[in-house]
Amino acid sequence: MQNNIVDIEKEAIESIAQAKSPDQLEKLSIKYLGRKGVLTKFLRDISSLPIEERPGAGKNANILKGKLEAVIKKAFLKLEEDADKGDAGVDVTLPGRPLQMGSLHPITQVAEEICDIFLRLGFDIAESPEVETDYYNFEALNIPKYHPARDMQDTFYVSENIVLRTHTSPSQPRTMEKGKPPIRIISPGKVFRCDSDITHTPMFNQVEGLMVDKNISFGDLKGILTTFIHQFFDKETSLRFRPSFFPFTEPSAEVDIRCVMCKGKGCRICSKTGWLEVLGSGMVHPAVFEKVGYDTDKYTGFAFGMGIERLAMLKFGIDDIRKFYENDIRFLGQF
Ligand code: DAH
Repeated sequence: MQNNIVDIEKEAIESIAQAKSPDQLEKLSIKYLGRKGVLTKFLRDISSLPIEERPGAGKNANILKGKLEAVIKKAFLKLEEDADKGDAGVDVTLPGRPLQMGSLHPITQVAEEICDIFLRLGFDIAESPEVETDYYNFEALNIPKYHPARDMQDTFYVSENIVLRTHTSPSQPRTMEKGKPPIRIISPGKVFRCDSDITHTPMFNQVEGLMVDKNISFGDLKGILTTFIHQFFDKETSLRFRPSFFPFTEPSAEVDIRCVMCKGKGCRICSKTGWLEVLGSGMVHPAVFEKVGYDTDKYTGFAFGMGIERLAMLKFGIDDIRKFYENDIRFLGQF
């Protein structure tokens, strides 16, 4: 029986050294140390030994038990370490997991595209505040208190004299107050109106434009805006300048393009007219120049304003403005 324990040890140590997986180690652990294992059986059989041999055999069996436990533990750790090193457990031939790439919001993309076109035409960017005074949002733009034109815009009032700007036009008087002509700026940003349906959201984006110098004519307005439309849509897009009214421009014109959906045949999108309104424009009203102290005999200029969401909807063929702001990645990821 004394020999027997030496044999058990030799056999156990050898098979533990050859084990190639945690599974095999687990099985060996059960085989030697388990309740019905080799060592347990050995201990049970001690009672059949002559009485003087029993203490020695018991002691040896317990030493071996401790030793095997330590060896198995070490073998487990070694297997784990090897797996971490990548020579087991990791299949380097598996395809990698795709990384989700982010993208710019379609409105940001369109705003950047609009700005790029005007920057190439020599315009600078001049931003102005989203929370605006009544003065810059209305008064300085020739829209006095109680003027019916204030009804055109459903204003969010912060207090009696502070509003969330209803358009980007306040950047006109703000820019002109800061310097003398020549001025050539565009001003992109968020605007706010108390309005909501499939073509209106309470917050949307506009780009304002202003060009002031000696001898600026309506011809310049037409030239710049035609160039813009041709670059933003395509060179074949027909456009027309339709007389309109804005308090801060005189004369005023809205620009329509041939319907991008039906090419002018008449459809639901263009209300069967064949034309789509894309922006407002006009020659800066003398009253606006007077407010900022410009000499109206010396300077003339034109201004324009456009809705970015509207241009994005026409460009991408989107029929509901609210889709831009529902944060559905499946929608936003397409652009
Ligand atoms: N501010 C106008 C609006 O929000 C758009 C506009 C029209 C801006 C004519 C202009 C302009 O600069 O000349 O409806």
